[in-house]
Amino acid sequence: MERFVVTGGTRLVGEVAVPGAKNSVLKLMAASLLAAGRTTLTAVPDILDVTVMADVLTGLGATVQRAPRSQGAAPSQGDPRPGGVAAPGAAGDRLCIDIPQDAGGAADGDLVRRIRASVAVLGPLVARRGEARVALPGGDAIGSRALDIHIHGLTQLGAVVDVEDGILVARSDGRLQGTSIWLDFPSVGATENLLMAAVLAKGTTVIDNAAREPEIADLCAMLAAMGARIGGAGSSTLVIDGVDELSAVEHETVPDRIVAGTYAVGALMTCGDVMIRGGRAGNLTIVLEKLVEAGAQVDVRDDGFRVVGRERPRSIDVVTLPYPGFPTDLLPQVIALEAISSGTSLITENVFDSRFVFCRELHKLGADLRTDGHHVVVRPPAKLTGGRVTASDVRAGAGLVLAGLVAEGVTEVTEVHHIDRGYAHFVEDLRALGADISRVQDRAVA
Ligand code: UD1
Repeated sequence: MERFVVTGGTRLVGEVAVPGAKNSVLKLMAASLLAAGRTTLTAVPDILDVTVMADVLTGLGATVQRAPRSQGAAPSQGDPRPGGVAAPGAAGDRLCIDIPQDAGGAADGDLVRRIRASVAVLGPLVARRGEARVALPGGDAIGSRALDIHIHGLTQLGAVVDVEDGILVARSDGRLQGTSIWLDFPSVGATENLLMAAVLAKGTTVIDNAAREPEIADLCAMLAAMGARIGGAGSSTLVIDGVDELSAVEHETVPDRIVAGTYAVGALMTCGDVMIRGGRAGNLTIVLEKLVEAGAQVDVRDDGFRVVGRERPRSIDVVTLPYPGFPTDLLPQVIALEAISSGTSLITENVFDSRFVFCRELHKLGADLRTDGHHVVVRPPAKLTGGRVTASDVRAGAGLVLAGLVAEGVTEVTEVHHIDRGYAHFVEDLRALGADISRVQDRAVA
């Protein structure tokens, strides 16, 4: 068991390099199943979920090799460097995935249950092999997270989908058949799964009310390089002309906007000054507008953006929505921000139904929070005070660390394996920015 020990009161100052996006790379890895041969992914974040997904692919017959981080962490301390010194783009490892002609169709149940994104292998497997068996996936405990939209879409493409002993089984008699699909909700995972199924289907598929997250545009770019014919990438209507075969390519993962946003919120909360190198401001438009409203100075550059906080943040109201709305994955971080802001704020969560579990933990540090349905009202206390709190999911964990940075005294965050799922070198990078944080291993009791 490991925990993070954070002593509050330091400013975040310096540069941090943003790795490739967790929510993109896991789907890019799944997309490698669509073509035999070697797929090379760059800017791959050094996170637990990538390791688990690599194991899922290995279980399907792939060979996965990882080369170390290609761009190191940012320089340790001091003012951000003026102008840019590094090429824009994300930092991270290089991952080579070799897919054999006859990759298996059944994903390992234990692994799949560990990360929800592993359900992304369903579309590619049923499209290329005509059969996929995937255990019902796990992941963060942030709501019901049904799969009905995935299943309905695959069925419309001609697959027969059943649940057999907790395993989702999708079968297709011959090639999938292009069709028109309207998503009831712009689900990120369903859009990706159906897109990856449709690229090898016979004829044209139109996916309407598709999710528009930048990670989906990234997946479209890789699929297009593989030979897929996709119109409307980045929009809510995707038009896919199925092709007979795709080929393996090299592709760079889009930078992680949620990691970038987490450092941006941290800079404002700590009255810091952080250059977020590789962060794409264009993928965080609403977030950065909100941070400016809260008092941040944001300076967008070619190689990232710089966030400066000068005084106690002003309170803001936030409503989460599918992209380009405010991302639900920055909700805990922004609640932590509101807990130290100067007035009352109203936060509304519209994507998941149990994201407020985090509020119970933040309350232990002295935050004044009232939840009602999908709303939370945050009133600022005089101060936050260190305490022992538990990370219930990856983003909740990040929010608690940010709260710890500004709380008086020592905050201990437990269950940090959740944070390791999505934040590469989090402790090291925060320390390089001046935070007093360390990872502590609990000794096993005999
Ligand atoms: C992805 C991201 C997650 C992010 C979320 C929303 C990954 C690995 N995870 O999750 O970090 O918070 O997008 O931006 O990329 N839903 C259904 N039926 C379905 C599918 C979804 O009801 O078939 C519901 C879910 O329960 C949830 C909402 O739709 O309430 C959003 O889910 P979805 O967009 O699919 O998120 P994920 O792909 O799971």
